[in-house]
Amino acid sequence: MKRNSDLSPQTKAAQALHMLDGASGAVVPPMHSASTFARDENYELRDGFIYSRYGSPTTEQGEDMIKSLEGADDTLLFNSGMSATVAVIEALPMGAHVVAQSMMYHIGLNWLNRQAARGVIGFDSFEAGNLEALSAAIKPGETKLVWIETPANGDWSITDIAAAADIAHAAGAILMVDSTAAPPCTTRPLELGADIAFHSATKYLNGHSDLTAGVLSARAALPIWEEIHNVRSFQGTILPGFEAWLLIRGLRTLYIRYKTASDNAMRLAQHFEGHDGIEAVQYPGLPSHKGHAIAAKQMTGGFGGMMSLLVKGPKGRALAVAKTCDVFIPATSLGGVESLIEHRLTVSGEGYGIPENMLRLSIGIEDVDDLIADLEQALATTA
Ligand SMILES: Cc1ncc(COP(=O)(O)O)c(C=O)c1O
Repeated sequence: MKRNSDLSPQTKAAQALHMLDGASGAVVPPMHSASTFARDENYELRDGFIYSRYGSPTTEQGEDMIKSLEGADDTLLFNSGMSATVAVIEALPMGAHVVAQSMMYHIGLNWLNRQAARGVIGFDSFEAGNLEALSAAIKPGETKLVWIETPANGDWSITDIAAAADIAHAAGAILMVDSTAAPPCTTRPLELGADIAFHSATKYLNGHSDLTAGVLSARAALPIWEEIHNVRSFQGTILPGFEAWLLIRGLRTLYIRYKTASDNAMRLAQHFEGHDGIEAVQYPGLPSHKGHAIAAKQMTGGFGGMMSLLVKGPKGRALAVAKTCDVFIPATSLGGVESLIEHRLTVSGEGYGIPENMLRLSIGIEDVDDLIADLEQALATTA
């Protein structure tokens, strides 16, 4: 459709790719929940749909939207972020060597360690953001997948996507980027050389904390892509129609949600940097963050709403701050319109390098003065 190819991604998102319903003119795409599709009078498939475990119209519309925002050749939606990454690992040849960060989404790391313990993959980790450590962890010819997360859960360290892609490709591996904290309105990993862009669409892409979803987008001619697609069909981990419909609705406001969250987070980070109750603010938007220069280069639409605060004071104070907040909601997850606070060690448990005094904040789209005042009162109460 010529009209769409000329438009900016923000316009395409806001208009849901202009997917007007042909019959009624409804400006919101209809929601299809059918599990199966009738053949025509010649016993041919009508629109290529046969059974919803393989694909269905609303899910495909969601995939088309994300494909367009990522600049991808193909996009697949899954029923969670984890099921998407599990499909990538399952699609690798048996015994393939995988390299990923030692600090990343902890359940992903847990999955990799378990698969390595079972002999399904070989696995080595490297320090997030450290390209020399990445090169050292790779086994040329054996490593099939390099998996980075940027910004990365925990301290929001940044990895240079273009440099990581060069290192992976030189060793014969593909690069997958978990870009959950940096949706396509700020970072498009495929344009920077990555082979697979992955998101937990549960987070910013949907933005309303009312579904779980995952998405993989690929560049052309990726050898394992067909197998990833097969794994999704065999396991039935495709995103169902209703969730896909909600996701399409969420995507329409992605740009303004992310911009407001980024603006709020920057204000809050600047306010608490140097605060006498705070040891450090870990936010890629601050010049003091060690990945700031690279973040500024590859997060062109804002630094997002994710940050961690290291709280000063005795053991237990960070948890007490989380409990004392009134406006921040004490829940895990991220990327929704509401701000969340999480005592990260309580949620992740030991073994993931998370310090006891870390609070993970997901900044939403509220009035930032309410958020700042809430943290101020919690710090004062627990001083
Ligand atoms: C960075 C990141 N990647 C992947 C996931 C897994 O996604 P999901 O919870 O949708 O399965 C999460 C979930 O918190 C995440 O934060």
